[in-house]
Amino acid sequence: MSSVLSPVPSPIPSSVLVTGAAGRIGSLLRSGLPPLGWRLRCLDLVGPVEPDGLPWTIADIADVAAAEALQEAMTGVETVVHLAGIPTEAAFADLLPANIDGTYQVFEAARRAGVARVVYASSNHAVGFHATGSLLTTEVRTRPDSLYGVTKVFGEALGSFYADRYGMDVAAVRIGSCFDRPPGERGLATWLSPGDTVRLIDALLHAPSFGFQVLYGISANTRAWWDLAPALALGYRPQDDAEVFAQEILAEHEPLPDGDPDLRFVGGRMTVNGRT
Ligand SMILES: NC(=O)c1ccc[n+]([C@@H]2O[C@H](COP(=O)([O-])OP(=O)(O)OC[C@H]3O[C@@H](n4cnc5c(N)ncnc54)[C@H](O)[C@@H]3O)[C@@H](O)[C@H]2O)c1
Repeated sequence: MSSVLSPVPSPIPSSVLVTGAAGRIGSLLRSGLPPLGWRLRCLDLVGPVEPDGLPWTIADIADVAAAEALQEAMTGVETVVHLAGIPTEAAFADLLPANIDGTYQVFEAARRAGVARVVYASSNHAVGFHATGSLLTTEVRTRPDSLYGVTKVFGEALGSFYADRYGMDVAAVRIGSCFDRPPGERGLATWLSPGDTVRLIDALLHAPSFGFQVLYGISANTRAWWDLAPALALGYRPQDDAEVFAQEILAEHEPLPDGDPDLRFVGGRMTVNGRT
């Protein structure tokens, strides 16, 4: 099913299409990027809870019949920020259309529409089975901790292919935990604050051509497990640190026992039960 909620004005090109615009991160970008000068178009399975005047396409990225609507929504767009999909562990039958078929359709529509850059929402769960204890670079092999993480590795590989074959810029952002405040003790390492989310995407929209890049997307956390160097090299300047919540978060929770997956693996509990 695909329909256009409000027509996209074709003569004036918008700069950025956000897929998954109705979701948590999409909503942050809808309020945060326009004041920085970006013209946004939005795409999602559903419309916005509160209409905000942005051009909006309702489409299922996994629906082959929506390919034209996808391409149309990308006409005149310089960058696609691809967030749409299932953001956690799920049955493979559900992940397959949303995260694999849908991601292929988004890259393919971007290529056909002549989009220069795709910012792809990958996840820390693409490397979740790496042990904590040392700063992980983007050079380490992928070690997905879940079927969800496997779909993110697929998206990264697809981005690498589109960059090499078609000359697109593709940034695969291994997002940590994007919440208003760090979710529990693990979040003290993995948090990406709302403000830093907007700052990171803004930097990736501004950066000079970079080919294919994998980077971690977290705030400047004192307890970080992931190397921010690739993101900093692309102009990201985080302003938040989960440490300011440390005392209150540690007081709220029982200390985790030694060997707890949240302390052992960077993917935390996703390594054992598919839940963050
Ligand atoms: N929030 C985090 O901490 C986090 C961490 C790592 C990675 N990510 C990734 O970032 C992206 C956005 O995450 P979020 O937290 O905003 O998730 P979310 O669930 O709040 O938003 C996802 C949006 O995608 C839309 N969507 C789902 N399937 C779709 C389809 N087939 N066609 C069109 N739209 C579809 C949903 O309607 C929803 O609005 C996801 O790809 C997620 O895997 C998020």
